Amino acid sequence: MKPIVIKIGGSTLGSHDTTLEDLVELQRRSQPTVVVHGGGKDITQWLEKLGVPTHFARGLRVTDAESLEVVMGVLAGMVNKELVASINQLGGRAIGLAGVDGCLIRARVQDPELGLVGAITGVDRKPLDTLLDAGYIAVVAPIGFDEQLGPLNINADTVAGEIAATIGAQDLVFLTDVEGVCDKKGKVISSLSRTEAQKLIASGVVGGGMIPKVEACLRGLASAKAALITDGRVPHALLGALEGKGNGTTILKKHGAWSAKRE
Ligand SMILES: Nc1ncnc2c1ncn2[C@@H]1O[C@H](COP(=O)(O)OP(=O)(O)OP(=O)(O)O)[C@@H](O)[C@H]1O
Ligand SMILES: [Mg+2]
Repeated sequence: MKPIVIKIGGSTLGSHDTTLEDLVELQRRSQPTVVVHGGGKDITQWLEKLGVPTHFARGLRVTDAESLEVVMGVLAGMVNKELVASINQLGGRAIGLAGVDGCLIRARVQDPELGLVGAITGVDRKPLDTLLDAGYIAVVAPIGFDEQLGPLNINADTVAGEIAATIGAQDLVFLTDVEGVCDKKGKVISSLSRTEAQKLIASGVVGGGMIPKVEACLRGLASAKAALITDGRVPHALLGALEGKGNGTTILKKHGAWSAKRE
């Protein structure tokens, strides 16, 4: 079976989230699965709680050395281990790792103005293959590794897209806190071609946290026939998506519906 890559948005994480039950069910069906998680909202909360000053450049948060300590503690520590523990409590078998483990994700500073934020230069599939071959769900925290600087903060969507492209994922699903990609009137767009997706970014209709998500879908299309952005707050959204009920926005190599990708 070809692996699948699932990105879980920090905002959709919670004990009531049926996504974790879905992941355990997929494991029971022998589906190799890589989960990548975000955690932007937890990071913001902890930076405030710890009184770490936040600086912005062009509206984007700058990651200085002190912020990176919090980012790592929250993402690779708390969020990653809570996810792994919850999956294991539900009867699944998961192992958590960050991009620094086994040099899974190599990166370099993306833009010096933004500080310790990484652009991915390569993904080594070996650490993931090792876990998937042994029957574990791999739960990845989005921290990259730079030979000189050490750990770097990376957007989780970007990590999911790069991993999907590298391991030849069959499906790439983003679970987030909105119904899908909205048009300028706020209506969810059910299906997008590569060109249409690029136009929505260029025109500013797709903004903020949706930009790396749409870009990651386009990257993932190097291997997946389609990528899906869907509402992770809907019960069993993940199993539904993999069974062909693609609520949300499907981005396809060729125009069509999410359900058509298996043809
Ligand atoms: N055209 C658009 N359609 C839908 N959402 C959009 C659009 N443009 C911007 N957004 C914003 O993108 C957000 C989703 O990205 P966000 O980064 O906040 O969540 P996430 O990636 O699921 O979580 P995390 O970053 O913690 O992993 C939505 O909540 C919405 O505010
Ligand atoms: Mg995000």
